[in-house]
Amino acid sequence: MNAFSGKTAIVTGAASGIGKALSEALAKRGAIVILADINKELLNATTAQIKAEGYMAESILLDVTKLNDVKKLVDDIRIRYGRLDYLFNNAGIVVIAEARDYTYNEEWRNIIDVDLYGPVNGCAAAFPIMVDQGFGHIINTASIAGLMPVSGLCSYTVAKHGVVGLSLALRMEGADLGVKVSAVCPGLIRTPMYQSRVIKFDQKKLLEQAPQGMPVEKCVRIILRGVERNKPIIIVSVMARIMWMLYRFSPPMTLKLGAIIVRRYRTEFRID
Ligand SMILES: NC(=O)c1ccc[n+]([C@@H]2O[C@H](COP(=O)([O-])OP(=O)(O)OC[C@H]3O[C@@H](n4cnc5c(N)ncnc54)[C@H](O)[C@@H]3O)[C@@H](O)[C@H]2O)c1
Repeated sequence: MNAFSGKTAIVTGAASGIGKALSEALAKRGAIVILADINKELLNATTAQIKAEGYMAESILLDVTKLNDVKKLVDDIRIRYGRLDYLFNNAGIVVIAEARDYTYNEEWRNIIDVDLYGPVNGCAAAFPIMVDQGFGHIINTASIAGLMPVSGLCSYTVAKHGVVGLSLALRMEGADLGVKVSAVCPGLIRTPMYQSRVIKFDQKKLLEQAPQGMPVEKCVRIILRGVERNKPIIIVSVMARIMWMLYRFSPPMTLKLGAIIVRRYRTEFRID
């Protein structure tokens, strides 16, 4: 027996990367996993693979920016299984660009819609249900960019700071009501997100020089251990922890260092 055995867990962004590995790990630990994603093909393939291994899983095509659809899913799971134990608000997107090159709809609106309103919608749908049943745990995937600013990821930084704030504010409100809320803050993890959209930077060169990133299976082990221990903030890599400590020790120094990194990236990777 473990904390996930026999429990229901919804995972958004479950078709790829961290969400896929989370779904697999939860299923292997005996949870009934509901995989939700906007990418139908990948979603079906991931769910089929988990089921073929003999575990309990089902899939739902979902756009996390659509509150009514998120509500429908959460209500449906509670009615069919009689309980909702875990909601992993994990779906996310990113664009690597300087904010001066953003278009409003794509790089501001869309990123904030998916990365911030996705978790907001999940919490709006699941938190009252969990309060009503007197238990449940919401786990919102933020990022190290939710704890400190990361240049080249301006809208992502906005959204992920919001996700950390959302998680911690809700955690305090849920404390006496039996509902737990955690924020996950990974550093660089080896997932398809690595090959996200880039504007005015040489993507090939960026990828060649990018650090390896943590394997996704290790990331998921750390996340689930943090969930079992009910940590408020689950920081996933040592590098992320060091960066956050540096930022807290001296914000001005860290911001100066960030400006130096921007200058280096412009010189080495920018294409105008
Ligand atoms: N990979 C990293 O280095 C890293 C670091 C820090 C935080 N994160 C966060 O981890 C989470 C997972 O990222 P990943 O690296 O596994 O990326 P990924 O691209 O491999 O997976 C993201 C998944 O989210 C889904 N998705 C996108 N928009 C959606 C929407 N509107 N509705 C439903 N699903 C949607 C995609 O189809 C995809 O399956 C994200 O929130 C990301 O911001 C990733």
